[in-house]
Parts: sequence; structure tokens; C-alpha cells
Amino acid sequence: MGTTRRRSAGGAWAWTATAAVLLATLLFLPGCPPGDGGNTNGNGNTNGNGNANDNTPGDSGLTGKFVGANACRTCHGAVHATWLETLHATALETLEAIGSDVDPCLACHTVGYGEEGGFVDRHTTNSLAGVQCENCHGPGKDHIDHIGDPAFWPDVSIAAQVCGNCHTGAHHPNFDQWQESGHAGIQEDVIADLLEGGTFVNTCGVCHSGDVFVAARVNGETVPEDYFAGMTAEDLNPITCAVCHDPHAQTGNAAEPDEGRDFQLRFPDTAEPTASTAVADASNPDRFNLCGQCHHSRGRVWTSTTRGPHHSVQANMTIGEMPVPDGTAALVPAAASIHQMLSLQCTNCHMYRQDFESEVAPAISGHTFEVDYDACVACHQFPEAKVNTIQAEIQAALDGIADRLGDPAQWEYSAEGGPDETVQATLADEIKQVRFLYHYVLGDGSLGVHNPTYIRAIVAKADVILTSIGR
Ligand code: HEC
Ligand code: HEC
Ligand code: HEC
Ligand code: HEC
Ligand code: HEC
Ligand code: HEC
Ligand code: HEC
Ligand code: HEC
Ligand code: HEC
Repeated sequence: MGTTRRRSAGGAWAWTATAAVLLATLLFLPGCPPGDGGNTNGNGNTNGNGNANDNTPGDSGLTGKFVGANACRTCHGAVHATWLETLHATALETLEAIGSDVDPCLACHTVGYGEEGGFVDRHTTNSLAGVQCENCHGPGKDHIDHIGDPAFWPDVSIAAQVCGNCHTGAHHPNFDQWQESGHAGIQEDVIADLLEGGTFVNTCGVCHSGDVFVAARVNGETVPEDYFAGMTAEDLNPITCAVCHDPHAQTGNAAEPDEGRDFQLRFPDTAEPTASTAVADASNPDRFNLCGQCHHSRGRVWTSTTRGPHHSVQANMTIGEMPVPDGTAALVPAAASIHQMLSLQCTNCHMYRQDFESEVAPAISGHTFEVDYDACVACHQFPEAKVNTIQAEIQAALDGIADRLGDPAQWEYSAEGGPDETVQATLADEIKQVRFLYHYVLGDGSLGVHNPTYIRAIVAKADVILTSIGR
């Protein structure tokens, strides 16, 4: 497969023209109160199915830089066909159904509204109705007029801003909340590694860089190590909207989408893999759900000496599995979490959503990915207290283990302040096993919640091993 696709991070065109319109729009009428708009369109005719005398759909006003999705169909037929089934394609119908196809609303529900050559009304610019190719890729006229010329290829960007121009505000704050999340940034040291190339683009980038994830994991491309050559930190996309969402298609991957919707997830909300101790399984994203595409083990086992398990073992922990060197026995028997039964798994707790109620109770989109305790009340009366209790219990157990191991300079991983590799080779297997168990729990980050039974079994096993060697 090709690896030469242009990347661009800015989605810059969208900011210049559309943002001004949207900003102006938002100042006057943010969001989408259903049904309270006026009931006339730009021509002063009643809207509806276009049967009023001069309201017949037409394209006489289509003279500018926007050409409409139909003009892309001949050559990009596959993308066009799947896009046509998404809610984006019928976003204007949504407004018409509630009589709100009026000024402040049209900006995010049509192509180029308020811009020269953009949507005016069904009568003059019918081809620009709905959210289309050109909302995300920029105006297409120049491309159509110079098909062979790469200089006019439309922008292809997975930058969150491309979606954030519309998915913002009190009614659908997906972008605003995403910006507050850990997914909106890349760790400084990882950025440096990615820009430098070497081997990091593939080893770290596949989970930490949205560009590499989409190229490698989604599109199956081979990503060269000089992928980011000549770019700066600002050019790198973290875990953006288009990493998790297919911009072009319904996918059927959402476990419980709202009625009539799909959510366009690239991977399923839920997965039910059988627990395994094999390294190849622990680090195989095919086994896991959407979140587990990245939140899984990187394959380290207790014989590793440089570093312990990565901070990404949440999917394995929830299933209740831990990799061990091939052919050796499990350290702790497998035990799936009681929380695996949640209908959306990770998403239940980390992406709790609530509809818009009022400006003081805006929508909660779940896109901060922070745990919302309202997600627990169906099953637990005082979930926060429950979390505090188990976290205190597990933290105390971990502190006890660290105490018994003694000075970290004697037992930690070599890259984490422990002894150098020559001393590592002399450490007892029991010490290596206990430190792995210890870091497996720490790396998961939930301190018990992801899998109460299994995580208690892990710290109990560490205790048994330490006792067996008189520590
Ligand atoms: C006459 C055929 C034709 C039409 C019509 C056409 N395109 Fe293209 N498009 C191409 C070709 C050829 C390329 C070059 C890249 C390729 O071969 O995929 C391209 C490239 C692109 C790219 C960049 C792809 C990349 O990998 O960087 C985008 C985005 C795109 N077109 C969108 C559109 C949109 C949106 C429309 C309608 C406004 C449109 N195209 C209309 C033929 C066409
Ligand atoms: C021009 C404004 C605009 C842009 C840009 C935009 N969207 Fe949307 N999006 C909408 C509107 C409006 C709807 C609701 C359509 C409806 O229900 O009629 C929507 C709906 C959606 C939905 C819900 C689909 C479903 O079936 O439940 C998803 C997911 C989505 N957009 C993701 C994205 C992503 C990802 C991007 C960027 C790659 C993006 N959108 C860019 C306006 C936009
Ligand atoms: C800032 C861009 C923007 C503006 C302005 C806007 N919308 Fe929306 N609208 C969206 C997006 C994005 C969605 C998709 C929400 C989602 O899927 O989470 C949407 C979805 C909708 C829906 C589908 C139901 C829902 O909430 O998901 C309705 C109805 C709607 N908008 C009506 C309106 C009306 C009426 C107005 C004018 C008062 C308006 N919109 C103005 C961006 C906008
Ligand atoms: C909601 C935003 C959005 C809409 C609407 C949209 N695209 Fe895209 N498109 C993207 C993003 C983001 C990418 C890059 C990620 C990817 O490849 O999945 C992309 C990639 C592409 C590519 C290059 C790679 C590929 O998947 O073939 C082409 C060509 C393309 N789009 C054409 C179109 C056409 C034609 C339409 C309309 C029929 C369209 N897009 C509608 C956001 C969008
Ligand atoms: C399998 C996917 C995956 C790979 C590959 C990966 N990471 Fe991570 N990494 C993650 C996830 C997921 C987190 C976030 C966990 C959390 O926030 O609890 C993370 C967290 C981190 C952190 C923050 C840890 C902390 O102390 O909070 C750093 C630094 C990091 N990774 C560096 C790297 C480097 C460097 C590489 C390549 C050598 C790499 N990662 C490869 C998934 C991965
Ligand atoms: C890490 C993955 C991930 C990222 C990044 C992400 N989403 Fe989502 N998104 C999801 C999941 C999962 C759901 C379904 C939640 C559920 O089932 O309740 C969802 C739901 C949605 C929905 C439909 C529900 C709603 O809020 O109306 C929209 C629209 C949406 N996302 C837009 C976006 C936009 C825009 C961005 C970027 C600013 C984004 N998402 C980033 C995973 C993601
Ligand atoms: C494409 C890879 C990828 C996917 C898919 C993904 N994540 Fe992440 N996630 C990361 C990385 C990388 C980090 C660490 C970011 C950092 O600190 O640099 C992270 C961090 C987090 C954090 C810690 C955030 C913080 O503020 O410190 C949570 C919680 C999280 N992810 C939950 C989820 C959930 C829930 C899903 C599924 C809806 C998901 N992730 C999907 C890669 C991913
Ligand atoms: C039963 C609810 C629940 C489920 C299901 C769940 N989590 Fe968590 N998760 C939590 C809680 C509670 C914490 C601890 C948060 C805290 O202390 O702030 C946490 C912590 C985390 C962290 C560390 C956050 C940080 O700030 O470092 C990550 C990453 C994470 N979860 C990802 C996931 C992934 C991926 C899944 C699915 C495999 C998942 N979670 C399933 C409740 C849940
Ligand atoms: C569908 C029901 C359900 C939901 C929703 C749910 N849990 Fe649980 N959870 C359980 C069951 C069942 C148990 C095992 C019995 C028990 O301890 O109550 C459990 C156990 C726990 C435990 C371990 C208690 C202990 O000390 O053994 C914690 C902590 C916990 N849940 C936190 C949460 C949090 C936080 C959320 C929301 C973010 C949540 N749960 C959502 C069903 C649920």
C-alpha cells in the first residue's frame, strides 16, 4: 500500500473562513434548541418539501468554490456511497423536520453557509445541503478543475479542529471536552522520539500518534521511520476524533447507539476475548475493544529487566490476564472483572453522557474520558466511597510490597532507578516476579476498580512470593 499520502495537521482553511461565521453564529444563538426557530427559509417561503412555487430544489446559485458532493461521486464513489448513509448527509433534513432551517442553524448543517459560493437555500444551492466532503476537506472547485495536479488536492487532515468547528458548544461539547482530556496531547518525550524517527515512529507512534494509528492500524499502511521528518510538535496529531470515528461511514460498532444513530466508531465498543498468558495475545489489538486498541500490554513479562509493564494494561487487567514468558506457568490465575459485564465496558464509566438540559446544565459528551460517578448509580449507592475504599486498600498493599522489597536501587528496573543490567542478571526470579506484579497494578492506574477480584489476587500473590523468600 502507498505511504505517500500527504498529511496536514492544521485544517487551516476551516479556521479562516468557517470559523468566523461560526463564531458570529455562536455569539447569537449557540447550539440546537429543537423546534424553536422561525419557519421560513432564506427566500421567505415556507419550507418543507420544496413544493412551494419558487422553492423547487435547484443549483442556479452554484457558481463559487464549492461544488457539492455529487461532483465527487464519479471518482470517489466508494467514499460517497458510505458518506451518503451517515447523518452528516441529512443534517439539513434534520433542521427542516423541526422547521429550523434558518440562519443561525444552517452554518453547521450545510456547506459554506454565509461564505461566498456557499449554501443559500434549497432553491439556489440544493447541492450544498447537509454536512459534506467540503466541510471537512475544504472547497473542491480547484481540485475538480485540475484533477491531475497534486497542488490542488484537497486537505486530508485528522486534526480535531476539523470536527471541532461544529461539534462544540453547550449542546454538543465533544471538542471542548476532548480538549481537556489526556487524548488531546502527546507526552513531551514521545513527541521528541517521534520527530526524531529511529524506531519510535512504529513502536510508540502506533498508540501515541493519531497519524500513525490511522495510517498503520486503520489503513494497514507501512509507516516509514522518517514519517514526521521536517515537521514540528504542532504538526503532530494526538488521539483525535478521526482516530476513534470513521469520518465517512456508519460502522455498526457502537453497542448501544441512540435511536437512529450509529456513532461511526472505527472499532467495537465491546469485546469478549478469552484470557491468555501468551505474549502475542496480550499485545494483539485484534482481541480488544475500541479503547483496548491502545490500552493494552506491550508484551513485557516478569523476566524483563529494563522496564516494567507499560501504563497501558487496562484492557488486559479488565479481562483478568497477564502475559508470562512463553511456556511458563501463569503467575496469577485468570479472572475476568465483574465490570466486563457492563454493556459498553470502558465507555460506561469513562464516557458517561447526558443530553443538554439548559445553559447551566449543558450536555455532557463523555469526551473528557474521566470517570463520572453518575455512571455507577444503577448498581452502587455510594460509588465514590467504594472507589476510595478499594484504592486505599490496594495502595496500602502496594506500599507494603515496596517496603518489603527495600531500597529501589537494589530491585527496580534499570531504566527506573534500579541497578544496572549486570546486577539485573543476578536478581532472584522471585524479586523479578514481585516487582512485575507491583508495576502491573500501578500501570493499570485504577488501583482495584478495573478488576477488584483479580487485582486483589495479584497483590496477594506478591505477598505469598515475598513470604516464601523470607522478606
Ligand atoms: C475526475 C475525478 C475526480 C473528481 C471529480 C474528484 N476527485 Fe478527488 N481526487 C482524484 C484523484 C485522481 C486524486 C489523486 C489521489 C488519488 O489518486 O487518490 C484525488 C485526490 C483527492 C483527495 C486527496 C486524497 C489523498 O490521498 O491525499 C481528496 C481529499 C479528494 N480527492 C476529495 C475530493 C472531493 C471532496 C471531490 C469533490 C469536491 C473530489 N475529490 C472530486 C480524482 C477526482
Ligand atoms: C459542518 C459541521 C460539521 C463538521 C465539520 C463535522 N460534523 Fe459531525 N455532525 C454534524 C452535524 C450537524 C451532525 C448531526 C446530523 C444530524 O443528526 O442530522 C453530526 C453528526 C456526527 C456524528 C453522529 C453520527 C451518528 O450516526 O450518530 C458523529 C459521530 C460525527 N458527527 C463525527 C464527526 C467527526 C469525527 C468529524 C470530523 C472528522 C465531524 N463530525 C465533522 C456537523 C459536523
Ligand atoms: C456550532 C455548530 C452548530 C450550530 C450553529 C447548530 N448545530 Fe445543530 N448540530 C450540530 C452538531 C455537531 C450536531 C450533532 C450532535 C451530535 O451528534 O452529538 C447537531 C445536531 C442537531 C440536531 C439533532 C439532534 C441532536 O441534538 O443531536 C438537531 C435537531 C439540531 N442540531 C438542530 C439545530 C438547530 C435548531 C440549530 C439552530 C438553533 C442548530 N442545530 C445549530 C452543530 C450545530
Ligand atoms: C466529517 C468529515 C469528513 C467528511 C464529511 C468527508 N471526509 Fe473524507 N476524510 C476525512 C478525514 C478525517 C480523512 C482522513 C482519515 C481517513 O482516511 O479515514 C479523510 C480521507 C479522505 C480521502 C483519502 C483517504 C481515503 O479514505 O480514501 C478521500 C479521497 C476523501 N476523504 C474523500 C472524501 C469525499 C469524496 C467525501 C464526500 C463524499 C468525504 N471525503 C467526506 C474527513 C471527512
Ligand atoms: C500499546 C500502545 C502503546 C505503545 C506501543 C506505547 N504506549 Fe505509551 N502509553 C500508552 C497508553 C494507553 C498510555 C496512557 C496510560 C494512562 O494514562 O494511564 C501510555 C502512557 C505513556 C506515558 C506516560 C506514563 C506515565 O508515567 O503517566 C509515557 C511517557 C509513554 N507512554 C511513553 C511511551 C513510549 C516512549 C513508547 C515507545 C517506546 C510508548 N509509550 C509506547 C500506550 C502505548
Ligand atoms: C478515544 C476515542 C474517541 C475519541 C478520540 C473521540 N470520540 Fe467521539 N465517541 C467515542 C465513543 C466510544 C462514543 C460512543 C459513546 C457511547 O456509546 O455512549 C463517541 C460518541 C461520539 C458522538 C455521538 C454521541 C454524542 O456525543 O452525541 C459524537 C458526535 C462524537 N463522539 C464526536 C466526537 C468528536 C467531534 C471528537 C473529537 C473532538 C471525538 N468524538 C473524539 C470515542 C471517541
Ligand atoms: C489510538 C490509541 C488510543 C485509543 C484508541 C484510546 N486511547 Fe486512551 N490514551 C491513549 C494514550 C496514548 C494516552 C496517554 C496520553 C498521554 O498522557 O500522553 C491515553 C490516555 C487515556 C486516559 C488518561 C487520560 C488522562 O487525562 O490522563 C484515559 C482515562 C483513557 N485514555 C481512556 C480511554 C478510553 C475510555 C478509550 C476508549 C473510548 C481510549 N482511551 C481509547 C491512547 C488511546
Ligand atoms: C467500573 C468502571 C470502570 C470501567 C469499566 C473502566 N474503568 Fe478505567 N478507571 C475507573 C476508575 C474509577 C479509575 C480511577 C480513576 C481515578 O482514580 O481518578 C480508572 C482509571 C483508568 C485509567 C487511568 C487514568 C489515569 O488518570 O491515569 C485509565 C487509562 C483507564 N481507567 C482506562 C480504562 C479502559 C481502557 C477501560 C476498558 C478496558 C476501563 N478503564 C474500564 C473506572 C472504570
Ligand atoms: C451494571 C452494574 C455495575 C455498574 C454500572 C458498576 N458496577 Fe461496580 N461492581 C458491580 C458489581 C456486581 C460488583 C461486585 C459486587 C460489589 O462489590 O458490589 C462491583 C464492584 C465494584 C467495586 C469493588 C468493591 C470492592 O471493594 O470489592 C468497585 C470499587 C466498583 N464496583 C466501582 C464502580 C464504579 C466507580 C462504577 C462507575 C464508574 C461502577 N462500579 C459501575 C456492578 C457494577
